[in-house]
Amino acid sequence: MPAESDDRSDAPPPTPPPTDLLERLVSLGKQRGFFFPSSEIYGGINALYDYGPLGTRLRRNIRNRWWRSIVELRDDIVGIETSIIMNPQVWVASGHVAGFSDPLVDCAGDCRRRWRADHLPAERAARGKEPDAPGCPECGGTLTAPRQFNLMFRTFLGAVEDSSAQVYLRPETAQGMFVDFKSVLNSSRQRIPFGIAQNGKSFRNEISPGNSIFRTREFEMMELEFFCEPGTDDHWFEHWRAERFRWYLEELGVRRPFLRLRDHEKDELAHYAKAATDVEYLYPFGWGELEGIANRTDFDLSAHQRASGVDLSYLDPMTGSSFLPYVIEPSVGVDRIMLTVLIDAFDEEVVRGERRVVLRLHPDVAPVQVAVLPLSKKEELTVPARGLEHRLRPHFATDYDETQSIGRRYRRQDEIGTPYCVTIDFESLEDQQVTVRDRDSTEQTRLPIEDLVPRLLGRFDI
Ligand code: GAP
Repeated sequence: MPAESDDRSDAPPPTPPPTDLLERLVSLGKQRGFFFPSSEIYGGINALYDYGPLGTRLRRNIRNRWWRSIVELRDDIVGIETSIIMNPQVWVASGHVAGFSDPLVDCAGDCRRRWRADHLPAERAARGKEPDAPGCPECGGTLTAPRQFNLMFRTFLGAVEDSSAQVYLRPETAQGMFVDFKSVLNSSRQRIPFGIAQNGKSFRNEISPGNSIFRTREFEMMELEFFCEPGTDDHWFEHWRAERFRWYLEELGVRRPFLRLRDHEKDELAHYAKAATDVEYLYPFGWGELEGIANRTDFDLSAHQRASGVDLSYLDPMTGSSFLPYVIEPSVGVDRIMLTVLIDAFDEEVVRGERRVVLRLHPDVAPVQVAVLPLSKKEELTVPARGLEHRLRPHFATDYDETQSIGRRYRRQDEIGTPYCVTIDFESLEDQQVTVRDRDSTEQTRLPIEDLVPRLLGRFDI
């Protein structure tokens, strides 16, 4: 059954997040260890990022949640892992060598910057200029005529560095699933309709990366190729369009008004697509693509069948008919989801006269789910508090903190999105009870230690 679509809302459009939110998140991200520029001690490297301990946990939780709902909870989708470097013929057949490019223009004026020709109006508008004004958005200098720039990174395989050894770093994980279609079909007892999913790194030499980890040159994709019989593709397209929208609302807790589905106009469609819809989020810099869902038809399988000479058709065991399956593809970047949930969760408020920053992350993806905080640094409390943290550790992502005042420690946990803090005080030694503080309401509840794990587990979908 297709999932119920909840993409149409009568609610008025929300106020976009403040424009300085991204800057504040970047600073929080660095301070708290979510993400920071790669190779920073050497001055960094443009549009490449590293993920710190909290960012790594958050990404892993997002990835696991995707994998669980796409692969583990379904019996019609299998997961695979294909290599980053593939036979270069793959990228010729897929159309990437000839066409995976963006129009590039150079500024011949003072700033010498490079731009994506199709981004020029937005870049001018972002600098308070007329979108259609001539010249460079930065310095007004003359721009060169657009030329196509292929986004694939190139390298060499083996000891000889000539054109016969040239290979590419994959710009998407999808092609691995198309070229392995027959092997998976023959080895997994799947029948159409069924899907192949994978997640892994992809690389694009983007001309204008930016907005922090929104558009980078190395990023991680999570892609599903769902193979179906031609004629049923419209049905499956609708199914995945609705299902992926639901996933963000229900499984990541993204706020409904900030999310929308936008169907591509015919002249906007990629060369391989019959239909496409973006799940969009209202970022501080405007509505932007979070995930793309495309009906890729049989474009890829037929291209690889033609180029490889291998029959990639599917023989229906029930009807005896043979056909090239159509493919519906939901495709998204882990980094982009991470940025989205951080923006969506970021909040600032005054509680009892005190300002606090709080990340209202969904408890299932929060990098720390339960923090144990002894009220004093005395061994009388720290020893049982550490013992309690070890009891919680197998069930939750935990943290232990005995430094500074309890108020400061609560603030620190709020800032990284920890849904629950458990404090042990001197009374706990008498009555074997602890205080559980809720991140969002800041309400505190006293609970017997014995009840802690089951009570907290009831709030997590682990
Ligand atoms: N196989 C389909 C495909 O590659 P795409 O729209 O180019 O489609 C899909 O990319 C998703 O991958 C995007 O919606 C976005 O979430 C993510 N993505 C693409 N380019 C990215 C980049 N340079 N940095 C971070 N994420 C990116």
